[in-house]
Amino acid sequence: MKGILLAGGSGTRLHPITLAASKQLLPVYDKPMVYYPLSTLMLAGIRDIMIISTPADLPQFRRLLGDGSRFGVQFSFAEQPKPDGIAQAFLIARDWLGGQACALALGDNLIHGEHLSVLLRAAVSRPEGATVFACQVRDPERYGVVTFDEAGHALEIVEKPAMPQSNWAVTGLYFYDKRVGELAASIQPSARGELEITDLNKLYLEEGTLHVERLGRGAAWLDAGTPDSLMQAATFVQTIQSRQGMLVGSPEEVAFRKGFIDVEQLRAHAKQLGKTELGRFLSDLADGHV
Ligand code: TTP
Repeated sequence: MKGILLAGGSGTRLHPITLAASKQLLPVYDKPMVYYPLSTLMLAGIRDIMIISTPADLPQFRRLLGDGSRFGVQFSFAEQPKPDGIAQAFLIARDWLGGQACALALGDNLIHGEHLSVLLRAAVSRPEGATVFACQVRDPERYGVVTFDEAGHALEIVEKPAMPQSNWAVTGLYFYDKRVGELAASIQPSARGELEITDLNKLYLEEGTLHVERLGRGAAWLDAGTPDSLMQAATFVQTIQSRQGMLVGSPEEVAFRKGFIDVEQLRAHAKQLGKTELGRFLSDLADGHV
């Protein structure tokens, strides 16, 4: 399975910070925001990843991420000229996808939790249909909202409903089978002029192949699109890392644990990160201390 990391958009809710800087490169505590969804894709075992961003910001992503070899993965880069919707990612990536199954992670979403790797592996190995993750939130009207029947099957998904029928929001991590390029091409722009990811999910829902995985209390989902949520995400990462001594969203750690890089490559990362806490943690990991 291939993976897309979507890191464009206009970031208007973070103006003026994002007037001259990409939202997804802003720091979330000790790492650039994009490291968190990147780590999630890598945790799912995905090693062929396309990063999509604006023409202005894409060079910075190339500079930060390189070709992927230092994480034992392969990066490709593509521009989204205008933020015409999340589902447009599959049209931009269509040739590169070559008819393969693909996951999509939004560059400003952080998912962390118990048993996440198991859920991710299940999503990757599902041969047909799509998998999305839903999480309970206090402000569902900002998201795609999913309702369930009594048996727990997804009934309906509505994008940014004025009157949400549930508090289950669809998170920014999606897994699709190999028809995704073709299905995305059939979507029409919505009233706000965007190719909506919710419309793509609805196509799978209507044919009965959308698997909605509900994330419970053991999982945290944060999106860092507003000043408050950016601060909350940073505090969350700081709290877990300093209290539990575990890293959140380190592609170096994931690469090592997944066997994408060897211990010498991990040591090189630790050395490059020098005296930072992150560097010390990676060095301990290489020494077998964590
Ligand atoms: P949003 O948070 O919905 O939009 P945004 O990032 O432009 O921010 P704002 O609402 O403050 O103006 O986007 C969710 C994620 O998807 C985010 O990482 C940006 C990305 N995105 C794109 O890359 N291209 C797009 O066309 C859209 C709509 C979003």
